[in-house]
Amino acid sequence: MKDFIINSPLDMHLHLRDDDILKLVAPLTSKYFSGALIMPNLLPPITTKEALFAYKQRIIESCNHDNFEPLVTILFQVDYTYEFLKNIKDEIIAVKLYPFGVTTNSETGVSSMEITVLRPTLESMSKLGIPLCVHGETKGFVMDREKEFLPIYESLAINFPDLKIIMEHISTKESIELLKKYNNLYATITVHHLLLTLDDVTGGMLNPHTFCKPIVKRPDDRQALLELALSAHPKVMFGSDSAPHHRKTKECHDGAAGVFTAPIALQLLTQLFEEHGKLDNLNAFISLNAQKIYNIKPKSKVINLVKKDFIIPNSYIYKNEEVVPMFNGKKISWSIEKINNG
Ligand code: NCD
Ligand code: ZN
Repeated sequence: MKDFIINSPLDMHLHLRDDDILKLVAPLTSKYFSGALIMPNLLPPITTKEALFAYKQRIIESCNHDNFEPLVTILFQVDYTYEFLKNIKDEIIAVKLYPFGVTTNSETGVSSMEITVLRPTLESMSKLGIPLCVHGETKGFVMDREKEFLPIYESLAINFPDLKIIMEHISTKESIELLKKYNNLYATITVHHLLLTLDDVTGGMLNPHTFCKPIVKRPDDRQALLELALSAHPKVMFGSDSAPHHRKTKECHDGAAGVFTAPIALQLLTQLFEEHGKLDNLNAFISLNAQKIYNIKPKSKVINLVKKDFIIPNSYIYKNEEVVPMFNGKKISWSIEKINNG
């Protein structure tokens, strides 16, 4: 195989931030993807129609007029009214729920995961057909946080059978079992959870650029995720969770969680699917599954990849912002040759 085409790739979990870092990273997604589901975890978070419209506008202005659609979200609040959600429904693709304090900028997340507390908003979302994206982690031992959250996913799935629930960035084999058990559960998978284990973060020298929430796990977890993604199981879709932080806030004491992969994800996924002889499933994993799950039709964008070495840049810089991608300075065997918009 010497070349490969990806049609209208979608990134169903992306952090774009704001201000200069938005200006730095937005073009690195809008160039290569047709659309992306944008996380609302700014400080303050996106929780009103005004903030949503203004943020979407700033994103569009930062994208350099590529053929790209930001699929925007709002942050889950326990006191959203039915009228508010009805009024905003056509402007958003989903509502994102963060439990309080489990990851970057989740100080504004929900402080209780009790069904009775969440019920009013979830019932309205369910009636209105608004999907729920969840960062499913507790505050337990770091390797067990996702596993400990599974009973919560299960009770959400049972209590709200008409609600589409997306288990974000799944990282364990136990999550896969639960995903398959309930019709209304779906999942996103990142490229880093398909490639890394905890050894790549702390097994040798500490690597802050592979540190994220949920933390990458054991080899058997990675293997199970890989099999699920390679088979393009219809309940999973690609969501990079590309989460840029300034170099100085990664390479330091108290380093921030988040792996930046936006400009290298398509090349890495092509390499990975080719290595396993599964390129035939790549378009489903990167676009078709998400189109079906979310019932969306992405803008047309054709990405031509060729088997040619690509050295991942050491960092990406704009004004005072500098972001280091995963695998900085390393070689990948696939490059993006041509992009056709329209
Ligand atoms: C994300 C971020 O930096 O906003 N960090 C991360 O490690 N994935 C937040 C998140 O999605 O957990
Ligand atoms: Zn995220």
